[in-house]
Amino acid sequence: MKREDIERLIGELNTLKCNSLKMVEEARIKYLGKKGEITALFEEFRNVDKDSKREFGKPLNELKQVAIAKIEELKAALDEAGAALEASEDLTMPGDELELGSRHPVSIVREEIVNIFRKFGYDVAEGPEIEDDHHVFEALNFPANHPARDMQDTFFISAGHLNPLLLRTHTSCVQVRAMETMPLPIRVVCPGRVFRNEAISARAHCIFHQIEGLYIDENVTFADLKQAILLFAREMFGPQTQIRMRPSYFPFTEPSAEVDVSCNICHGKGCNICKGTGWLEIMGCGMVDPNVLEASGIDSKKYSGFAFGMGLERIAMLKWQVNDLRHYFENDLRFLREFNTSLEV
Ligand code: DAH
Repeated sequence: MKREDIERLIGELNTLKCNSLKMVEEARIKYLGKKGEITALFEEFRNVDKDSKREFGKPLNELKQVAIAKIEELKAALDEAGAALEASEDLTMPGDELELGSRHPVSIVREEIVNIFRKFGYDVAEGPEIEDDHHVFEALNFPANHPARDMQDTFFISAGHLNPLLLRTHTSCVQVRAMETMPLPIRVVCPGRVFRNEAISARAHCIFHQIEGLYIDENVTFADLKQAILLFAREMFGPQTQIRMRPSYFPFTEPSAEVDVSCNICHGKGCNICKGTGWLEIMGCGMVDPNVLEASGIDSKKYSGFAFGMGLERIAMLKWQVNDLRHYFENDLRFLREFNTSLEV
């Protein structure tokens, strides 16, 4: 029997660490079990001659006490940690469900339109919802007191001012900001929320969304406008889509047109969505009026351009045939959950 064996085991026990009750039990068996190392030393002790018994007896008993105390200590620590864990949480409980929202139909449509125009090389620009008279009307060729202003019922914030603040009634004001700040040529789409003082009904709302498009360069013609709109319509509504343009009036474009696409429900045969005409109106457009270019400091002799604007709710209505505008604003989960995936028409 050697002193070193006892000291080595005391050293081992002092640094012993267990992180499960199973490990503690294994350690108990290793040191104190029937075939354990300490038990073996006690066996050996029996054969030690009488004179040496004094030398080994005391340290051997101490070793056994150290082992018993250590095993108890480790067990207690793990029991305590286990109890704390059990009290704090039940690891067998099912996890919390992560509720994923769905995209709003207006967001889906906006993203689709923006992505189509991105492919055509357009940038995206945004402007403030609280605008001034200059950007919403004046710079777009609506002179003060011009009857064209009656087309859009405006929420004014500060009246009686030379350039009153108001909630923008269309996103065309963002084209003015683009012309003021962006280098030429400009190719930009401007999605955003707009406001009009309208009574809320299935067909009208005081808040809705538009996307505006603007292209300005040298030698831009009406043919370019037609081609851009046709390519857009085919990307958006399918490759068979036809477009037609009807003459119209907007103060900021000359000439101006209203664009219809062939009805993608009845393919021109006539249904209740297209009211039997085979055509669906989707946007207004035209060649940017030279007055509008000049108002933002662009030389109208050198540059020309086209612009267009459409309502996002209108496009969503055509895409999903949800024909009551109020659904888009009421946050009814039963409605919103219908749009869990982006539906392709
Ligand atoms: N701003 C028009 C509206 O709100 C839509 C529009 C028409 C925009 C013709 C345009 C355009 O850029 O060229 O009714």
